[in-house]
Amino acid sequence: MILVGFMGAGKSSVGRALAEHVGWTFEDLDDRIERREGRKVAEIFRDSGEVGFRRAEHTALKELMGELQAAPERIVALGGGAFVQKENARLIKAGAVPTVFLDAGADELWRRCRQQAKQEGMERPLRGSLEGFGELYEARRRHYLKASFRQETGGKTIHEIAAEVIEALGLNRRREKRGEK
Ligand code: S3P
Repeated sequence: MILVGFMGAGKSSVGRALAEHVGWTFEDLDDRIERREGRKVAEIFRDSGEVGFRRAEHTALKELMGELQAAPERIVALGGGAFVQKENARLIKAGAVPTVFLDAGADELWRRCRQQAKQEGMERPLRGSLEGFGELYEARRRHYLKASFRQETGGKTIHEIAAEVIEALGLNRRREKRGEK
């Protein structure tokens, strides 16, 4: 399953909670990009620009999609721009992997990103100003809405969101099938 959505949507934290609950592995596409490139996302943006980053992102996604076909029991978090790129959306569609859009309003996403920057020192090269952030969000939202399922996250905790996704997609049943509570 692939989680999509804007910066601050909670793709990585909800993804980890989901993976733990259903007993699948979790992967963050940005981590794979950093491993393959031997550079942090912010360094790729700084040295190779957004074009260089998108190229690295597409190559990493292609590799990951190949692995998902062989071993689908994985929750994957994409970076905020990945699903917006046509060639990536096409790749995911061709692989028939379910996608979940974690949705929230731009103000809340902005607050979460600012908090992560302050508390965890998380650098997001495209966060920019509140105005630019809102515009990018508006431009991208229609792409996220192409996901197989939309999950509202506004005002909810990570565990509430994970529980709702599990319920909506019937992931509990997979766990029950394995004889677990
Ligand atoms: C990006 C979001 C980031 C990361 C990169 C580009 C974007 O991931 O992939 O900085 O284009 O929105 P998060 O959504 O995890 O912040």
